[in-house]
Amino acid sequence: MAGLIPQSFINDLLDRVDIVDIIDTRLQLKKAGKNYQALCPFHSEKSPSFSVSPDKQFYHCFGCGMSGTALTFLMEHDRLEFVEAVETLAASVGLEVPREAGRRVVGDGNAEIYQLLDAASSYYQQQLRQAPVAIEYLKGRGVTGVVAKEFAIGYAPPGWDAMLKQYAGKKKQLLAAGLVIENDKGRTYDRFRERVLFPIRDTRGRTIGFGGRVMRKEDTPKYLNSPETPVFQKGKELYGLYEARRAVRQLERLLVVEGYMDVVALAQHGIPYAVASLGTATSTTHFQKMYRNVSEVVCCFDGDNAGRQAAWRALENALPALEDGRQLKFMFLPDGEDPDTLVRSRGKEHIETLVSNAISGLEYLFNQLTSGLDMESMDGRARLASLAEPHINKVPDGVLKQLMRQRLGELTGLRSTAGQDSSNAQQSSKAAPAVQTSSSGAARPPRRSASRLQARMLVTLLKAPDVIHKIDADLQQRLAGLPADDLLGDVVRYVVSHPKADGAQILASWVGEPDHALLLQYSKRPLEVGFAAAQEEFSAGALRYIEAEERHQVKAVLARLQADPTPDNLRRYWQLMEANRKGLGSGGTLDGVQDPAEAQ
Ligand code: UTP
Ligand code: MN
Repeated sequence: MAGLIPQSFINDLLDRVDIVDIIDTRLQLKKAGKNYQALCPFHSEKSPSFSVSPDKQFYHCFGCGMSGTALTFLMEHDRLEFVEAVETLAASVGLEVPREAGRRVVGDGNAEIYQLLDAASSYYQQQLRQAPVAIEYLKGRGVTGVVAKEFAIGYAPPGWDAMLKQYAGKKKQLLAAGLVIENDKGRTYDRFRERVLFPIRDTRGRTIGFGGRVMRKEDTPKYLNSPETPVFQKGKELYGLYEARRAVRQLERLLVVEGYMDVVALAQHGIPYAVASLGTATSTTHFQKMYRNVSEVVCCFDGDNAGRQAAWRALENALPALEDGRQLKFMFLPDGEDPDTLVRSRGKEHIETLVSNAISGLEYLFNQLTSGLDMESMDGRARLASLAEPHINKVPDGVLKQLMRQRLGELTGLRSTAGQDSSNAQQSSKAAPAVQTSSSGAARPPRRSASRLQARMLVTLLKAPDVIHKIDADLQQRLAGLPADDLLGDVVRYVVSHPKADGAQILASWVGEPDHALLLQYSKRPLEVGFAAAQEEFSAGALRYIEAEERHQVKAVLARLQADPTPDNLRRYWQLMEANRKGLGSGGTLDGVQDPAEAQ
């Protein structure tokens, strides 16, 4: 988590490293004037359009638009998590990463746990070789020795104290690693007994936990997983990701399945790119993690009711991760089958066909939303519009979001409002020009001049982007719903969809935008108060800001309605009133409403 490492350290770090050194060891940089050039590692090209600026300490690709700092480069290029990237960067200049006091330490403090888990994994593997029952069980399920080895499958012998005997004197560490359990009488015993074990490894290949399956039908629970430990958080890890990255040189797609055995069976039958979440729904964190590695994620579900429910939940969790260039697809299996049984009975090609026929997430979303609605009636279409809106709003600004609005417009026949309402994020200057829609006379200049309040809030966001995750969820949503011509709204949306972004990364993503200079200027201002105070101030400021903004919008839309009383403008006004009910209080009268932003 970003919060564990002080922001000041990251700033120092970025000051100390030279982005040219970092990139030069990974790409063939050539000097070109003040800058350096290379073939872009993020898209395929024949002539170099990837440029590194030693002055600005930024990289930017004129071909695909990727840009950022040394830190983002490591994250994108080496596919590192934020903390890993900071550690790598720090190591390159001989710095140690400090941690904020009072938080759980994820660095060296856990070295012993990692060691123990790795040792245990080897021990369990060795136990498997001596356990005919387990070998028979795996054979019976068609698992070959090669794949068992690749996934480091092991076996926990029967008995209660194998671990404690094997690692005598390490009771405390065994407990911390989740390998033994302590009951209320203070007795400790092995967590995994008589189970086939699937080690769960992080992207660096370290064992962080296990899933263990019983071998007899009557035993319960069927699968037992490691508990949450300092090195293992179920909601974040994906079984098989390490193995997939190792097996496939250029991983392009991941297939999300339900179980350990599905991942193993698919790998064995030539589909080495499957992963499974660990008995939980696929979370936004899971999707972010997958999209760090591939641009296409195909989610596989049972065709039954439970499967469809799971698919819907996954879809909702995926939306915030769907930045441009990322694809989401769904495939459903025949009743009673899972990938394990299916790949064994029908083979690799059958699965591949299903994968290539997978339905796009966008299509699936609209299918689900329209099912049960009478799309012939005005009422049904209006209902679709209001059902779809919150989902579309979750998608980060970009081409996909625009496509979704377009699709919604086609389905509802409300195309005129779908693309041009000033309250949606369509006209963001960050959107691709090719799909920019022309404004139908929304009476607002491109960017209103910044208020002092806005400036202060932006300074806080740049210095401590975490505040956005600390404020009330409703407030966060309303900030993210600010119109596209509002810089604060734009930055908020960026920070929300890039939870790990630091100030430098925010700046980096504005390189080449008209507002970059302003943000740069803000980033140089100090945060005048401590984090806690800044957070409080931000929260209070956000409310004032939004209320002012909403009044401003209502006034503008009302003025438009008065000047041009068309049904379209009436609907726009009505929609806005509906949306702002909370913000404006019950009556929503406009008399005497003053715009504090203007009064300032
Ligand atoms: P399933 O019960 O669908 O089993 O669990 P499966 O994957 O088909 O397993 P096999 O083929 O019978 O061996 C799917 C996933 O749900 C989690 C596990 O992660 C499992 O892989 N699970 C299931 C548990 O955590 N605990 C359980 O008791 C059952
Ligand atoms: Mn199964």
